[in-house]
Amino acid sequence: MTATTLPTPADLSITPRDRRFGREAAAPRLWHGGRVEATAIYNALSTTFPRGEAFFVESVRAFRADAPAKLAEEIKGFTTQEAIHSREHDAFNKRAADAGYDLSKLEAQVEKRLAITRGKPPIVSLAATMALEHFTAILAHQLLAEPRHLAGAEKETADLWRWHAVEEIEHKGVAYDTWLHATRHWPRAKRWKVKAKVMLYVTRNFVVDRTAGALDLMRQDRVTGPRAWARLLWYLWVRPGMFRKIAGAWLKFFLPGFHPWNEDDRHLLGAYAKIASGAESKRKVRRAA
Ligand SMILES: [Fe+2]
Ligand SMILES: [Fe+2]
Repeated sequence: MTATTLPTPADLSITPRDRRFGREAAAPRLWHGGRVEATAIYNALSTTFPRGEAFFVESVRAFRADAPAKLAEEIKGFTTQEAIHSREHDAFNKRAADAGYDLSKLEAQVEKRLAITRGKPPIVSLAATMALEHFTAILAHQLLAEPRHLAGAEKETADLWRWHAVEEIEHKGVAYDTWLHATRHWPRAKRWKVKAKVMLYVTRNFVVDRTAGALDLMRQDRVTGPRAWARLLWYLWVRPGMFRKIAGAWLKFFLPGFHPWNEDDRHLLGAYAKIASGAESKRKVRRAA
């Protein structure tokens, strides 16, 4: 696939929205509707972002030198968005720690996984980033498409997740296009084999690590043993069933001709307008007060 035939929309603009969330009032410890398992899985996910997204940025930037102009421009938008996400999730994680959660085990696990990948050639880091960015994009799509995932969550925290999801969709093709560019001289079969292998590897780690992380946080809320497993698995796989619902989109990654922008889901970006208008009216209220 050459730059001119990429399915990435020609009119795509990757716009960093420099927002801050949750700085004024503390959200409750169980910010997700008072539900232990819901709060735990989102907190576990957030723990991965500051280090994980810094790694994504490093991995993509390593290949930007000879990127075509449009891709180079998109890489710039992507790195700025991810840097702001890291900042906001770092602040979110500090609030979780202030609410009494010990995140050290989860953070150590992220560090361990990243250290393994960092010991490998840069193209492996790019492949892992490309696979995880697809993962993030399909999670983001599901989060915005089905309001029930954040139903009952504290407003400002839910806004943080929606804001992040919007930008993940916007830049979902950047790591993939960088990968296509970096491997443009590879035979198709080799490209597919590496991409499929890496996707299976990161998916296994993602599911196992996030489940273990969420169980660790649930234990800190005194939900343990089979009860914890049952509640978490029900939440993830049955209702609202985020992992089950992304399965189809995940499988598409393995099809010949896959590209993140084969599905143009920019209609979901409208979710940001609601968040932004909320922030705007809040500012007005504050000014008026
Ligand atoms: Fe992000
Ligand atoms: Fe991302």
